[in-house]
Amino acid sequence: MRLVILYDPGADDWSADDVASVLKAVDDIATIFAARGHTVHKVPVRLDLKWLGACRRADLVYNLCEGVHGVAHWEDHVAAALEMAGIPFTGTGSWTMAACRRKAVANAILAAAGLPIPRWLVVQGRVPDEFPLPAIVKPAAEDASAGLDRASVCIDRKQLRQRVAAMTEQFDEVLVQQYIAGREFNVGFVGDRTLPVAELDFTGMPEGSWPILTYAAKWHVGSPEDLGSVPVCPAQISQRLADRITRVAEAAWRTMQGKGYGRVDLRVDEQGRPWVLEVNPNPDLTDSAGLSRMGRAVGWDYSELVRRIAEVALREAQGVKAARELLAPVARTRASRTA
Ligand SMILES: Nc1ncnc2c1ncn2[C@@H]1O[C@H](COP(=O)(O)OP(=O)(O)O)[C@@H](O)[C@H]1O
Ligand SMILES: [Mg+2]
Repeated sequence: MRLVILYDPGADDWSADDVASVLKAVDDIATIFAARGHTVHKVPVRLDLKWLGACRRADLVYNLCEGVHGVAHWEDHVAAALEMAGIPFTGTGSWTMAACRRKAVANAILAAAGLPIPRWLVVQGRVPDEFPLPAIVKPAAEDASAGLDRASVCIDRKQLRQRVAAMTEQFDEVLVQQYIAGREFNVGFVGDRTLPVAELDFTGMPEGSWPILTYAAKWHVGSPEDLGSVPVCPAQISQRLADRITRVAEAAWRTMQGKGYGRVDLRVDEQGRPWVLEVNPNPDLTDSAGLSRMGRAVGWDYSELVRRIAEVALREAQGVKAARELLAPVARTRASRTA
């Protein structure tokens, strides 16, 4: 098989660490397929679209792009170009990517499908006084905990006003959402497999910090917030609660037409009710990330996870190819012509 690993080579403002973490996943995945005798090409995406030619010659594109030159929304266009060219690729399609990145769009779709979404609004001027507190203020079209710190959760109107003002200076679109106190869980998906529920255990968060996944907790390795947010998989919860969380997460993933691999983030309130925070198509696929941990909980090592994601994509593409061939017009036979 000819495999292209497609990735974003980054932007001028990327640090050496940012670039290294992308290349680490690219190299690890390349090694896994090369060791099995496949031909692997590592192809960076650029605005000139030359990469599309390289992809056309591949049997499968392993799509690791999270943007083009660091611009996140171009991620959708990469997937859309591959779709339009009929090239099989791993992970989710362009519609799901675009819809999930705009949190307000995803929330509206999920809520309309009957899923439990904490009350939210996109800030347009003043937040109405009846909006429930505490509330969390987050960028409406970012991911990876961008813009989240210990001041993100507001307990009174004054704090909320100040935080909203500060965030709207920094981000184009800002979302205010009812804060759900309670434990946080993630559910991962690979193809039609739902992986065991994982918990983000915040019991060790430093004094004065809210139990949320802040930017520091996610990215500043060794910081008090990082050490205070510990992933546990499988989560130490009753089967009943695990089933309840899983059902909601599966419905959210289906509603957003998730494909390939993904992760749904949820919180469970004090009454034991799950709430969906977010649907993440194509989550981080590095060996140390959440999805890899969830895979290990069902006995998959990293290479097994990586291979399964390719298999899911190829199987679907083969199905489409087979269907096309079956439906293609057949050359008419002499008998049918005279009939
Ligand atoms: N409504 C909410 N209630 C409680 N915590 C929240 C809420 N929304 C977000 N958080 C916290 O902020 C973190 C990041 O928010 P999320 O919506 O998942 O955005 P991101 O795309 O940055 O991961 C979550 O993991 C959670 O800890
Ligand atoms: Mg999240």
